[in-house]
Amino acid sequence: MTNSSTEAGVEKQRDRTSRVHLSIVIPTFNEADNIRVLIERLSRALRNTSYEVIVVDDDSPDGTWKVAQELAGKGYPVRVIRRIGERGLGTAIVRGLREARGEFIVVMDADLQHPPEIVPRLYEEALKSRADVVVASRYARGGGVKGWSRIRLLISRAASLLAYVLLAESRRTSDPMSGFFLVRRSLVEKLRLRGRSWKVLLEILAKAPGARVSEVPYVFEQRYSGESKLGLRAMLDYVLDLLRLGEYRALKFVTVGATGTVVNLAVLWLLKGVLGVTEYVAFPAAFETSLTWNFFLHDRWTFQGKRGEPGPRGWLRYWAKYHGAALGSMTSYLVIGIGLTKLGINYLLAGLTGIVVGFLANYLISQYGVWSLHSQASRED
Ligand code: GDD
Ligand code: MN
Repeated sequence: MTNSSTEAGVEKQRDRTSRVHLSIVIPTFNEADNIRVLIERLSRALRNTSYEVIVVDDDSPDGTWKVAQELAGKGYPVRVIRRIGERGLGTAIVRGLREARGEFIVVMDADLQHPPEIVPRLYEEALKSRADVVVASRYARGGGVKGWSRIRLLISRAASLLAYVLLAESRRTSDPMSGFFLVRRSLVEKLRLRGRSWKVLLEILAKAPGARVSEVPYVFEQRYSGESKLGLRAMLDYVLDLLRLGEYRALKFVTVGATGTVVNLAVLWLLKGVLGVTEYVAFPAAFETSLTWNFFLHDRWTFQGKRGEPGPRGWLRYWAKYHGAALGSMTSYLVIGIGLTKLGINYLLAGLTGIVVGFLANYLISQYGVWSLHSQASRED
């Protein structure tokens, strides 16, 4: 098909690289005692698949990179990237993703907590479900963890819950903190991943809200050798990462809510305090004014660019949808506000109580029910 020999050479090479089905990215820091066992077990598990392993080592003092290079010398399909003067799990993974040539890429830890035998299942699931992302999940039916105390389990579950609250896009998986997952290379190439967070899966989910996500359950094993590098600091970073990956929507939402509260109480005061209007009119009017105010700011700021329908028609439809979502908070606001006023409590205090009670429900319903940040069918770009 090609005339010149150099082009033929390029063609051949492209052909060869396109035959790699699977790239396995393994970030390492001081995993010399684990990497050999891992690569041997991978080669057994992947006998029938063409694959490459990319070890991204941050110049480990224990010489992990050297052990990996020796394995490559023995004929294992291993490439070693030795990063000098650079540290960090997230950036190491992103570097590996960039080097990968396979159609699909699996990211996994080196310490055998992620069983290599699960890798072919991730691949099969990707082919079967045509998913862009397949998460190896501890919390899917059939998955689990070995040797964890109740407290550790509880912390992990709470951390997942926090992801669901702060980053609705993470709801597509039961294990948003997983460090073991498969991703289609063509998807990775479209996203500008940075690896600032060590949860690269979260970054992918946040940046690809339209990507199709599937799961395979697995049991998280005990570390084979060496020790974990992720400590308390990592937990704090995690919360900050969630906020950043969610484009600070949670903080913006609270801020808008605060301004809406002021608007609500101002209208209430004007109608009831100044004009002497009955609470049966003042409370609904205050609610409606602040609701539309909030919607305007959320649409312009909190969820900027997330509205599925542009133009005034879209604006109106979302405004109506937002009302639907606010039915619960409206009911609680009216019942509590008017009820407490009737009981003789100051009407402004009554209104404030109604607002606070309705707030959390409104926040959750907005991200899931109105802007549908978790849905598979939202914006794909
Ligand atoms: N290149 C590089 N640079 N690799 C690193 C670094 C780093 O700075 N820090 C850690 N790693 C490598 C480790 O060598 C290991 O292969 C992997 O990243 C995970 O590190 P661990 O220290 O074993 O983390 P963990 O067991 O506490 O947490 C893991 O499991 C969690 C639960 O699935 C991680 O995968 C988490 O992302 C995951 O949430
Ligand atoms: Mn580990």
